[in-house]
Amino acid sequence: MRIEIPREAERFGSNLIHGIQKVYEMDSGLPDDNGTAGKIVKRISYDELYEIENQMAIVIPVKGEKIKLIEGVLFGIPHQCLVIIVSNSSRSPVDRFQMEKSAVENYCNFTHKNVMVVHQKDPVIAKAFAEGGYPELLSRKGLIKNGKAEGMLMAKMLAKLAGKKYIGFIDADNYFPGAVHEYVRIYSGGFAMAKSPYSMVRVSWSSKPKIVDNELFFAKWGRTSVITNRYLNELMSHYTGFEQEVIKTGNAGEHAMTLDLAMLIDYSAGYSVEPYHYMNLLEKFGGLNEPEYPEVMKKSVEIFQIESRNPHLHEQKGEEHVDDMIYAALKVIYHSQVTPESLKKKIIRELRQKKIIGPSQKPENAIYYPALSKIDLNKFKAVLKDKDYASGFK
Ligand code: GDP
Ligand code: CO
Repeated sequence: MRIEIPREAERFGSNLIHGIQKVYEMDSGLPDDNGTAGKIVKRISYDELYEIENQMAIVIPVKGEKIKLIEGVLFGIPHQCLVIIVSNSSRSPVDRFQMEKSAVENYCNFTHKNVMVVHQKDPVIAKAFAEGGYPELLSRKGLIKNGKAEGMLMAKMLAKLAGKKYIGFIDADNYFPGAVHEYVRIYSGGFAMAKSPYSMVRVSWSSKPKIVDNELFFAKWGRTSVITNRYLNELMSHYTGFEQEVIKTGNAGEHAMTLDLAMLIDYSAGYSVEPYHYMNLLEKFGGLNEPEYPEVMKKSVEIFQIESRNPHLHEQKGEEHVDDMIYAALKVIYHSQVTPESLKKKIIRELRQKKIIGPSQKPENAIYYPALSKIDLNKFKAVLKDKDYASGFK
């Protein structure tokens, strides 16, 4: 792989946010092939990517997606990754989860891929969260709550128990298996460049195909991303005193983190989970509060934003969905203790103008989850030790 070295970077306390990077070659050959790295591009050999992927779990959150799409996603993930499918699909009247499981088993007969399939409502995993001291994720029924963010948190603990070093997320509703392959390579390429054990890689789609006037049009920015990125950048500019636009991946559903970082940060529920990563990094490692983790502050937290070349095509979920996503992102920016009053006022104005909230309404708060580091790993593990999906755990 050949990736350009980040052209710009913004520092915010201990956070180092790298500007967008472009990939020049998906495959740049063996370590001693010609065209060695210069000052502006980094060449990452296949072996290096392989080693990282060997320590990586790729999580596919699923809720009632077409089985064909899930198979396509599996096809795109390199063999050396552990795949964790967290499904919240219905179990009755049709047991969609069972259908997914059989399809995956069948696929694995051909590939021997390492795939763990779990249901979000698995009572044993819920019990592990309860005994490990993390009741926040559980509903009144004692099962893990609904939602993609909740499924992601569950998967983070499974990846941790499997002894993985990296965790990446890829939505199940992706129409291009080739894009999935590219996302994983972007994750491992990003980690190969990282200097800190606390790092994150976010994919910026180069285009999203749409039909406009009967022609295919490759839009670059989604309507939600434009707004989320604008507010996140304004917040950054407020503190640095320089106007900048370094953040381009406020809504990156496709992202990966080192497990060390994944265990330390707080999360928010729903569609705000991805924008909230930035907010929580600013809150925790921005140097604005008394540092909770001085050792992380010393090493810094690195955020890479890497552009994919494949177009991003997923299931269309309608106009209303866009407003929901904008609201989710702006809610967590509005309610953060690091957001200045002036920006809060702008957010209110934006939401009222878009009629997302009423003329006298203020944005409601989101639901937040504390860092997973508070879980007692031994207790968590003890509950799961006899389950068959626990066989991959160390
Ligand atoms: P969008 O791409 O941001 O518009 O959101 P989607 O509705 O496509 O959801 C993203 C991914 O999360 C898809 O793969 C969904 O199947 C999955 N998903 C949605 N809700 C849930 C849930 O409650 N639990 C789990 N595990 N996955 C979910
Ligand atoms: Co989608």
